[in-house]
Amino acid sequence: MDARVLLRRYLEQRRELGESELVLDGLNVEDVMRLLGATGSSAPSTEVRQSVRQLAGEQPDDWRTALQDAGVVVDTPVPGSRAVPGPRPVPPPAETARTTPPAPIPRMAFPPEPTSPATGAEATNEMAARKEIAAPRGIVIASEEAELIPGAIGKLESLEEIAEKVKACTRCSLHATAINPVPGEGNPNADMVCVGEAPGAKEDETGRPFIGQAGQLLTKILAAIDLTREQVFICNVLKHRPPGNRNPLPEEVEACSPYLIRQLELIKPKVIVAFGTFAAQTLLNTKTPLGQLRGLVHQYHGIPLVVTYHPAALLRNPAWKRPTWEDVKLARRILDSSPRS
Ligand code: URA
Ligand code: URA
Repeated sequence: MDARVLLRRYLEQRRELGESELVLDGLNVEDVMRLLGATGSSAPSTEVRQSVRQLAGEQPDDWRTALQDAGVVVDTPVPGSRAVPGPRPVPPPAETARTTPPAPIPRMAFPPEPTSPATGAEATNEMAARKEIAAPRGIVIASEEAELIPGAIGKLESLEEIAEKVKACTRCSLHATAINPVPGEGNPNADMVCVGEAPGAKEDETGRPFIGQAGQLLTKILAAIDLTREQVFICNVLKHRPPGNRNPLPEEVEACSPYLIRQLELIKPKVIVAFGTFAAQTLLNTKTPLGQLRGLVHQYHGIPLVVTYHPAALLRNPAWKRPTWEDVKLARRILDSSPRS
């Protein structure tokens, strides 16, 4: 099949998923299609075929590298990629390019399909994970006994009571712009609690967490470790949507996090999975980047806590699906090895 057709399909797939940016530093899908000639009718250049193979083949991770190979100027150099000065690979002769069967279009699948052999770091993680839950210990937040929330929220005795309080909450200004509160939903006796950042538009409309595109991916991620949404509890740090999905403000987090803390205290899950930088940094009270928080088993008031990428980030960057898969498998192993309750 024509390389441009493959590329166009891939971009269309991204666009269907609601992406307009593709982590391309300002270029959007339409720009890329135009730059690559994917909307024109002339034959694709060798460079474009080459980059399509790279996108779909061994190094699908970095669009910028592939675009640079296709001759597109990309502003920000990608560390460790050919964007920084280094030998440029010689494109294969046109003949070879033409006879090479088209590589498959990257598919949105979870769990991710197996790829090339693990890197050193992945291999270490994989080995650590295989020995029970022997991933290195991470941050410890308070002890099991510490009193978590002084005051009224700490006295709420059920998830329903928390939801009621959230509904009437005016501790920050978000209630004024939101349509519905999104306290969280799922099994009150869940072994796993999934924590995201804040409700988005769909969640705000319905009052239910993680039901938009990112939420559908979260459902798949859970399915990949044999869990349904009904088995777990799903919630966010913020219970009301920030206008336009802007980042939560520190005072909003401070006002809202007692609800999350009390939810965790009541549910007492066997593992918490923090999806995304925001949930991870809030729960672990740190500014450490997500990349450094992953792969460790943190302790949140005695409850193991695993950090992974936010599903919305995975939609933008499919290269993160493999590490996410490793992270949720780690969470699954923690579940499987904790005593029955
Ligand atoms: N979309 C998926 O369906 N899975 C991933 O892992 C990433 C994006
Ligand atoms: N993103 C989140 O962090 N939470 C949701 O509920 C939906 C999208």
